[in-house]
Amino acid sequence: MEALFMQIQSFCIVILMAVGILVHKRRKLHVKLMSLAMIWDVALILQIELSRSAILKASKAVENALALNIHVSIAVSTVIFYGFMLYTGRAVLSGDNTLRKRHRALGYTTFILRILTFVTSFWAVAPKA
Ligand code: HEM
Repeated sequence: MEALFMQIQSFCIVILMAVGILVHKRRKLHVKLMSLAMIWDVALILQIELSRSAILKASKAVENALALNIHVSIAVSTVIFYGFMLYTGRAVLSGDNTLRKRHRALGYTTFILRILTFVTSFWAVAPKA
């Protein structure tokens, strides 16, 4: 149950990010939506950490350590990419257009990583049969 609540939030974050990318031409809105998505994602990680034992008890995650490790590695990489997005995004905002292409490439990479985090979460915490 708890894992499902986390996964629903995770799905909302992916959608929020997709909408944020679609509206990137409206810079202010793009920055607001992306900031909200990143803050929500970090808050989600904290919720997962705090209720970790409950999730592990109700799932096969312990038995499926490889899947959990892969999921956690992708999730951690995503958060590291958030740092790159903040850095390059702020630079583009302040007029440095040389970083725009990089922000775009990093942006799509971050988005793909975030989708993979969501997909692998099902694999990592499949409910106990
Ligand atoms: C996970 C976070 C983010 C993702 C995935 C993302 C992704 C993108 C993408 C794909 C573009 C389109 C680039 C292009 O086609 O030229 C873009 C543009 C842009 N982003 Fe982000 N972004 C993120 C966060 C941020 C943040 C935090 C800022 C600012 C603090 C920012 C500022 C901008 C700006 C100024 C543009 C150019 C808009 C334009 O004039 O076309 N982004 N972003």
